[in-house]
Amino acid sequence: KNIVVVISGNGSNLQAIIDQCAAGKIDGQVLAVISNNADAYGLVRAEQADISTVVLDHKAYSDRDEYDHALAATIDIFQADLVVLAGFMRILSTGFVEHFAGRLLNIHPSLLPKYKGLHTHQRAIDANDEEHGCSVHFVTAELDGGPVILQARVPVFEEDTADTLAERVQEQERQIYPLVCNWFCTGRLKMENDHAYLDNQLI
Ligand code: GRF
Repeated sequence: KNIVVVISGNGSNLQAIIDQCAAGKIDGQVLAVISNNADAYGLVRAEQADISTVVLDHKAYSDRDEYDHALAATIDIFQADLVVLAGFMRILSTGFVEHFAGRLLNIHPSLLPKYKGLHTHQRAIDANDEEHGCSVHFVTAELDGGPVILQARVPVFEEDTADTLAERVQEQERQIYPLVCNWFCTGRLKMENDHAYLDNQLI
């Protein structure tokens, strides 16, 4: 399967996916990495793996719809079977989400439906949560609201800061995101009517 990864930053999830493709643990290949941010370190990771990179700077577009059209057109050039959002820090328009419905994944650093949006680690600490984690989900028009496919949980310790907690969560992200990508690439994972199915079982 052809995978296109869309990023804004460090790209540690991207790296995990690249590595698992190379190891044969994801039945697919990353054909391109697209970033809205020219300084994203993930672009360096892609270049080191000989993967095509495209920078699409949102500041060069007049509005979200115009940007999202350009992004969709770029992804389509690579004939993506699967579009993986990995630390892409922009909200996507409904038109974009519908165009890629059922083949658009995201990872969110919380145990959804808790803590949609930003600053999830600090919010978990502020709420004195004993547990925190990350969720891979299909993307639908509702922000961070699509059906959850897989979550990983980590403990929250008293001495945690947002940074130490983020590190613990991100270690788990690098485990679960490649696994879900492989489920998709091997045809085990599907979305129908905004519900996720693994091996035809509702998740
Ligand atoms: C991850 O924590 C992800 O959950 C969030 O942004 C971060 C991206 O990290 N959406 P990276 O760019 O994959 O290192």
